[in-house]
Amino acid sequence: MNVEACTYVIFGAAGNLSRVKLMPAFYHLDEANQLPEGTKILAVGRRDWTQEKWLSEVRDMIKLKTKEAFDESVFKRFSQRLHYHLGDLQQPECYTKLTKMLEEPIFPKNIAFYLSISPADFGFVVEELDKNKLLTQQHGWRRVIIEKPFGYDLESAQALQKRISHYITEEQTYRIDHYLGKGTVQNVLVFRFANVMLEPLWNRNYIDHIQITHSESIGIDNRGDYYNSSGAMRDMLQSHLLQLLTLVTMEPPVSMEAQALHDEKVKVLKSIRPIPKQAVHAQAFRAQYASGVVNDEKVKSYLEEEHIPEGSITETYASMKLYIDNWRWRDVPMYLRTGKRMKKGQSIISICFRQPPLQFFHDSAHHATVDQNWVILGIQPEECIRIEMTVKEPGLEMKTRTSSLDASFRNSDEKVVDAYEDLLLDVLKGDRSLFLNFDEVEHAWQIVDPILQTWAIERDYVATYPAGSWGPEDSRLFDKDCQGWRTSLTPEK
Ligand SMILES: NC(=O)c1ccc[n+]([C@@H]2O[C@H](COP(=O)([O-])OP(=O)(O)OC[C@H]3O[C@@H](n4cnc5c(N)ncnc54)[C@H](OP(=O)(O)O)[C@@H]3O)[C@@H](O)[C@H]2O)c1
Repeated sequence: MNVEACTYVIFGAAGNLSRVKLMPAFYHLDEANQLPEGTKILAVGRRDWTQEKWLSEVRDMIKLKTKEAFDESVFKRFSQRLHYHLGDLQQPECYTKLTKMLEEPIFPKNIAFYLSISPADFGFVVEELDKNKLLTQQHGWRRVIIEKPFGYDLESAQALQKRISHYITEEQTYRIDHYLGKGTVQNVLVFRFANVMLEPLWNRNYIDHIQITHSESIGIDNRGDYYNSSGAMRDMLQSHLLQLLTLVTMEPPVSMEAQALHDEKVKVLKSIRPIPKQAVHAQAFRAQYASGVVNDEKVKSYLEEEHIPEGSITETYASMKLYIDNWRWRDVPMYLRTGKRMKKGQSIISICFRQPPLQFFHDSAHHATVDQNWVILGIQPEECIRIEMTVKEPGLEMKTRTSSLDASFRNSDEKVVDAYEDLLLDVLKGDRSLFLNFDEVEHAWQIVDPILQTWAIERDYVATYPAGSWGPEDSRLFDKDCQGWRTSLTPEK
């Protein structure tokens, strides 16, 4: 694909996301010769920094991330791309000066505006860019990358969409969900659609239930203000986990094109059975971490963290059960959960198959039982597929045990590519397949809104779980006694 050079304008370039993800991702892309010649990265920040100071800041960001892999000669070349624009993004003059700067011939006319800023400023920035004709695609393309969260609930998401859609088309809008880096999405899609033996089993006739767990051992770092206004349901379930669910359960798309993938994902979201308010308690659970021990270290409770108001009811753990009312999945429960300060940081998708129709081996002299088959997709940190089968134990007795077929996605010498590297490059290529269309965001909010509304008014009690545990006791979500959270890639005995 012929990729043209562009100017990446980063609003909020001195912030956390830019330090930890964006600048290192640009550096790695440059190192891998993936950035088209002439591509520039123009930082917009309110700190009174010179160009030299900005370069030394970026150098520190990248060194922190790359450690001994830092390459002075690559950075020297990379630094030629970097520029700094001092401006307060809430002031109109920031944009008039920016417009002037972008008229300089060194800046390519294809421009991507990356809004790595507070969601409260998204609408205003887009309006100001429009006022200064920076979104007009007369001499090159103009694209706007919007970080999550897109809205705080259904109503605010719709209001934000209404506001920005006056100025940018859907094709110009790149709503990012970094959790859906290319690797993750492609792994799930290849696993499902390149292995023909699985597809006939991928439905309600053979699958008992599906679980998706994203657990983190870290707490809220120094992002207390942000987290407290968000919580686990908005931060992870509404966005990332619902997206993963769509990939695992969607119908085969007609192609791997952005629109075809998007159409199938939306069909799943539309088929999710709405949760009426009276069913919220049966289908959703929230909790907060209490103090505890994580990786042999004593850690504070959520309420003792910095910037968390006394008596906060924000959940650090959220789980829910959903049903997809379509031909393939009707009545198969889908369990999703996420939590902070849990025992281990990992993302796994676990698919539990039904018991065989007849338990031939159940009544044998030694009461050998047959475990259900599981397919486990490890997303992070381990990237792997495990298929668990029941085998006979060697020996004279009729005993069974679980054995697994393991396929690792990555050999030890194969590099992990950060999701942001893929996504930044996709914007350059105009490939929106990993970005969210508004209708996906809207349907996802529709699904969780009744839960959020119910939780918002129930302020008396929020369950807790010890930091370093696998979360609270929320087994009431499960449809059957034999169902329960799977916490490990290997069988739990
Ligand atoms: N951090 C993450 O891991 C993460 C993950 C997913 C999504 N996000 C999303 O990414 C966005 C950025 O998050 P973040 O964690 O990087 O936030 P952050 O650390 O607070 O960074 C925001 C940046 O915006 C700048 N800013 C604020 N007001 C400004 C103004 N009036 N004029 C100019 N600059 C201004 C800040 O400048 P100062 O530096 O001078 O304060 C800061 O550099 C948010 O939408 C967030 O939800 C972040």
